Amino acid sequence: MSLREAARAVRENAHAPYSGFKVGAALRTPGGAVYVGCNVENAAYPEGTCAEAGAIAAMVAAGETVIAEAYVIADSPDPVPPCGGCRQKLVEFAGGEVTVTLATLDGAERVMRVGELLPGAFTRTHMDRN
Ligand code: THU
Repeated sequence: MSLREAARAVRENAHAPYSGFKVGAALRTPGGAVYVGCNVENAAYPEGTCAEAGAIAAMVAAGETVIAEAYVIADSPDPVPPCGGCRQKLVEFAGGEVTVTLATLDGAERVMRVGELLPGAFTRTHMDRN
């Protein structure tokens, strides 16, 4: 299954009764495995989680820690950009050259690299003196 198909399918399962904005995310790891996630909102609004966070959690729970490619889709007017927190979460597991495809249900796509999404990211190397 393509990342697009996987992200589209999991988006249907999003729990988004408060925003009404369903998001699906799919990640591929170097070995070819695909992990998916959707946003899961909560009546206590700050407790909601993003689609990307769900996909990353599924990947880590399966014992994997390297993202080779990512795809995010929503029913938005323009290809949906990951939020700031999700950019940081992607950086933890993806090199700067890894592509993240931002997409709409209508078929628009924008391909960006992780390094473009979060230039100057804080990473583990910044703690090297500790
Ligand atoms: N959302 C995501 O799942 N990923 C993003 O990168 C953007 C925002 C979700 C969070 C919330 O459930 C809804 O979209 C509206 O912000």
